[in-house]
Amino acid sequence: MAYRFLVVDRKGPVERVTLNRPDVRNAFNAEMLAELASWAADFPKSSSGVRAVVIGGAGKAFCAGADAAWLKKVAQHSEDDNIRDAAATSQMFRALDELPVPVIGRVQGAAIGGGAGLVAVCDVVVAAEEAVFGFTEVKLGIIPAVISPFVIAKIGVSAARELFVTGARFPAARAYKMDLVHAVVPEAELDDTIDRYVAEILAGGPQAIAAAKTLVRDVAGAQDAADATRITAKALAERRASDEGQEGLRAFLEKRKPGWTR
Ligand code: COA
Repeated sequence: MAYRFLVVDRKGPVERVTLNRPDVRNAFNAEMLAELASWAADFPKSSSGVRAVVIGGAGKAFCAGADAAWLKKVAQHSEDDNIRDAAATSQMFRALDELPVPVIGRVQGAAIGGGAGLVAVCDVVVAAEEAVFGFTEVKLGIIPAVISPFVIAKIGVSAARELFVTGARFPAARAYKMDLVHAVVPEAELDDTIDRYVAEILAGGPQAIAAAKTLVRDVAGAQDAADATRITAKALAERRASDEGQEGLRAFLEKRKPGWTR
């Protein structure tokens, strides 16, 4: 599919998705959100052989969040239209959050508002030392609503309360401290660092990695200890019995590399 505001590029097992409105620091407009939603919805069909996704932004910044001009315009739409629109955005973030392969965020410049929300739905985030983050919505008289489930799951209630009510911008070092990002490096080293993460991912069983993502989500959402036991026992039993699990265990015992690393 051809996109106007995304560049999607596949090299071997890695698909790179680049937000591409650099003049406005990759701010989300309706079309870009729709393209991201469509890319995520198509992924299960189009992704044969893809084992990692890297999301980044063209130009000086990762993403400046919602396009203020677009937000101003949609405010004049009916309440029903606004609710439908926000629900579609929420669904887009959820689809990205639940992609069955690891998603690596590549952050330079700034990740603000929805841009920081996009960071929160990545599994691994590598940020440049100078990158700035912020859930700055209150500064515009709005709130970080649809991204909040994903952000709170990443940084916890306490940091979310502080950062949502102040709307303060914070440096990569702070984002690292609260596990919103996982590596902070000089900007020139972003791609090498991401390549190292990709190499780790390619050494793991693809189905096991997908199951590991689901496991984290399911256990985090478990009702109680009994529910967690049920979820984890079933997940482990399935993996042990799977062809991939059998191949991984056999390869270890036979001192060879498992088939998925070829
Ligand atoms: N919506 C619409 N336009 C935006 C935008 C946004 N969220 N963020 C940046 N832009 C535009 C600017 O208006 C500017 O346009 P101009 O060239 O016509 O003046 C252009 O992008 C470049 O922005 P600038 O601020 O000069 O770039 P910078 O590299 O110095 O800073 C940011 C980048 C992201 C830190 C800064 O643009 C910013 O803070 N943006 C606002 C982010 C925000 O509040 N988002 C919350 C949305 S809910």
